[in-house]
Amino acid sequence: MSKPGPQTTKQLLGSNPYPAMEDDIQEEVRSQFKDRGLGGWQILQLTAGSGLALYAVWAGVLMPGFRRVPLKLQVPYMPASRAQVCNVMTLLKGRSGGIADLGSGDGRIVLEACHQGFSPAVGYELNPWLLRLSRFYAWRAGHHRSVSYQREDLWKVDLSTYKNITVFLAPSVLSLLQKKLLAELPKDALIVAGRFPFPDWTACKVEGEGADRAWAYHIQELRQHYQSQDTSVY
Ligand SMILES: C[S@@+](CC[C@H](N)C(=O)[O-])C[C@H]1O[C@@H](n2cnc3c(N)ncnc32)[C@H](O)[C@@H]1O
Repeated sequence: MSKPGPQTTKQLLGSNPYPAMEDDIQEEVRSQFKDRGLGGWQILQLTAGSGLALYAVWAGVLMPGFRRVPLKLQVPYMPASRAQVCNVMTLLKGRSGGIADLGSGDGRIVLEACHQGFSPAVGYELNPWLLRLSRFYAWRAGHHRSVSYQREDLWKVDLSTYKNITVFLAPSVLSLLQKKLLAELPKDALIVAGRFPFPDWTACKVEGEGADRAWAYHIQELRQHYQSQDTSVY
């Protein structure tokens, strides 16, 4: 006896003794098509929703307080790694006096500098969440009276009293920052940059490898270099 072959839908429906069931099948097919249409709409909604959620995180958590900072000068938060903090501290060894971290994030560099005896140890940061976190960490470490985290735009801060400056910023802003540092820092100041070097400067010392690398610059050497080339940069 030969096996019966697969039946077509027409055969199935044709031999269907229950017409109500046929209606059900057709309704199911129709609703599947309807669902497919909704799927596209849902994807669109999902994409728009995710975009909005990402924007909310960006604006509300990562970049609040940046409304008055031009877009091209906005640098998002990305904390220094343990190795990066160590490299910065190695480059600052033997130095003393005041230190400022420009864009201090959760305050880890300022706190470590305070541990190493730098005073005053100041962080400038616009993100209020990160400022709160910095103050909490300082309080937890028992250093809340020795460090200061200020909600200020680093581009508007007067840096003329700081002998030590640390920066972990984006390459896009470093060129402009060079001008500010050259114009304002005292003659014995040292600048330490993490993650990215200053584009036009030669470092006097480098510490670490790869992404953890940090660069130190003596402001006096840089000024002398510009003077010897007779180029005005500030
Ligand atoms: C890459 S993170 C570095 C954080 C911290 N220095 C560290 O190394 O862990 C840069 C920080 O700079 C802050 N920042 C960016 N532009 C700023 C500005 N104009 N004034 C003050 N802080 C700023 C950001 O909010 C962010 O926390």
